[in-house]
Amino acid sequence: MDCFRIDGPVALSGSVPVAGSKNAALPILAASLLAEEPVELRRIPQLGDVRVMLRVLECLGAEISPWYHAADSTPVPGGSASMPGGSALALSVPDDGPCEVPARLARAMRASFCVLGPLLARRGRGVVPLPGGCRIGPRPIDLHLAGLAALGAELSVERDRVVASAGRLRGATIDLTGPRGSTVTGTANILSAATRARGKTVILGAACEPEIVDLGRFLVSLGARIEGLGSRVIEVTGVDGLGGTRHTVIPDRIEAATLLLAGAITGRWASSAESTVRLTGVSPGDLAPVLAALRGIGFDIAEGVDWVAIRSAGRPLPAQLAAEPHPGLPTDVQAQFTALLALAVGRSTVRDDVFPERFRHVAQLRRFGASITVQAGTATIDGRHALRGATVVASDLRASSALVLAALAAGGRSTVRGIHHLDRGYELLDAKLRSLGARIERVTQETAGRRAARLALPAAVAG
Ligand code: EPU
Repeated sequence: MDCFRIDGPVALSGSVPVAGSKNAALPILAASLLAEEPVELRRIPQLGDVRVMLRVLECLGAEISPWYHAADSTPVPGGSASMPGGSALALSVPDDGPCEVPARLARAMRASFCVLGPLLARRGRGVVPLPGGCRIGPRPIDLHLAGLAALGAELSVERDRVVASAGRLRGATIDLTGPRGSTVTGTANILSAATRARGKTVILGAACEPEIVDLGRFLVSLGARIEGLGSRVIEVTGVDGLGGTRHTVIPDRIEAATLLLAGAITGRWASSAESTVRLTGVSPGDLAPVLAALRGIGFDIAEGVDWVAIRSAGRPLPAQLAAEPHPGLPTDVQAQFTALLALAVGRSTVRDDVFPERFRHVAQLRRFGASITVQAGTATIDGRHALRGATVVASDLRASSALVLAALAAGGRSTVRGIHHLDRGYELLDAKLRSLGARIERVTQETAGRRAARLALPAAVAG
């Protein structure tokens, strides 16, 4: 198991490119099952969850090329290309093929469930185990199932698997509003399935996150007829078949936000009294709620067509923040803002309306000396003047990046364990932070069991 060793505090400065969006790439890869001709996808981030999705697609009969550079088609060695346009993949999916996702892959990632709608629409059958994913509170799939049933699918849950079949799906009016707003991957599933249904589908309470808009654009480029992307009501007129396309995935707004917050949390230690972190290959519009929150707590933000920069010279002001569905502040940056406000000049509150139980990072942040309590989905944070290095364990993807942020700002050495969570969703975050001046090192730890096994071997073999 790897961990990060981080020595802080060091001010960050410089410019880094942002990778393609994980949460756009995953449903787009799943929706590639609908394409009857080859698809080329560009700016696909090289990270754990994408690799799992590629395995899922291969198990369903997809042929997938090795990664290559979009610009010149040269091969990309594992985990290297983070650039505008970045690394690309070509896929083709036959009409017939296996329709069952292996349980070990489904359990590894919630987005695996996004293949069910495309499978039903293309092959009339899908067997997908109940999904796993980050432990950030209850994550039901009732809205996915109700939506697919409304499109005419027959569904049952057998031995922890959803077994679904359908003749040709038929258009319907479907409301995806749940108790906490819409569902993002549920909208992806129903939107994808409806592209090939007979007649018109109206999705009410649709998620309007940029990742859903990007999925919709991908589907339109395959030949789908979709209106209302980015709004709460999406209308899909089913077509008889979908072709192929070339599509470039949007930049990852959550990775961008995490890097901006890394600049924010470390800026006050800059020897030149301030530091600037500049991100390239971003869509500032998609970052609007994050940029507004950062400006609101005193940071200086500049932005251009495809770049954004933060200047940081001091502690943040306190704030009352709430994570909400788009266009609110994303729940996927709640943990990172909680870490940043641990250093604010006064008392802040951070509420998570999407996942009110998503606060497992708080107990770990306290180890750095942060003063935070959580009650009923709201963290109350009494800002400290400084944090101190600590050994902490990440519980989920965004919690792990919040702990990295705290460690960058904390005085002395920190160790962040459990970074396999971080590797699921960030492409080379440690290398990017290092290029900005952070002292962050990835350490591969031998487990006690492996060490004992190795020590039991003759030296010649063990070496
Ligand atoms: N919900 C239901 N019923 C459902 C589905 C969801 O009640 O059938 C509820 C959930 O319990 C939650 C709310 O609706 O309270 C929103 O959940 P949603 O379904 O939108 O979450 P998701 O689609 O499973 C995606 C992202 C998450 C991100 C959320 C919210 C992907 C692959 N995952 O999850 O990303 O937090 O939307 O924006 O797109 C991450 O990247 O770290 C991550 C967890």
